[in-house]
Amino acid sequence: MADAVESPQVDAIPYQEFDKITEKYKGDPSAIIPILQDVQEIMGYVPKNSIGYLAEKLEVSPAKIYGIVTFYAQFRLQPKGKYIIMLCEGTACHVNGAKLISKSITDELEIEGGQTTPDGLFTLEKVACIGCCSLAPVMLINEEVHAKLTPDATRKVLKDYVNKEAAAQN
Ligand code: FES
Repeated sequence: MADAVESPQVDAIPYQEFDKITEKYKGDPSAIIPILQDVQEIMGYVPKNSIGYLAEKLEVSPAKIYGIVTFYAQFRLQPKGKYIIMLCEGTACHVNGAKLISKSITDELEIEGGQTTPDGLFTLEKVACIGCCSLAPVMLINEEVHAKLTPDATRKVLKDYVNKEAAAQN
């Protein structure tokens, strides 16, 4: 008989790897930032369910670690999405409406810079010049360049990715 309640998805924590990291820094609680950097290098992000374990190893409160992870933009609590949107905010893109493009992405996907959609499909990253200023405003989605964007064109591009994914699932 199947359980009525599904278990929540829990990230597998490579405890031995984490132990090696904390041992490398001799469990020094003042080394939380480099420890978190190492964790993120292994996992691609800092899993929420690893925070309690690290806190115990370093003898600090989970709130302290959580505070650091959420304070510094370099850390992420979610894995990156399948599609990484790199929205250029360099000068040429800025003067050609990058802010409007940013707003249309946020409206469409409900994420801000540095965030990933709950379905794991998109991560939005805001970057400086990506070297195609004559095509401003520009965004890259993985390797693909989307140039001379307007808010409508941006929404269409995103919808096309969503539809492509939906079609691939069927
Ligand atoms: S400023 Fe956006 S590509 Fe150069």
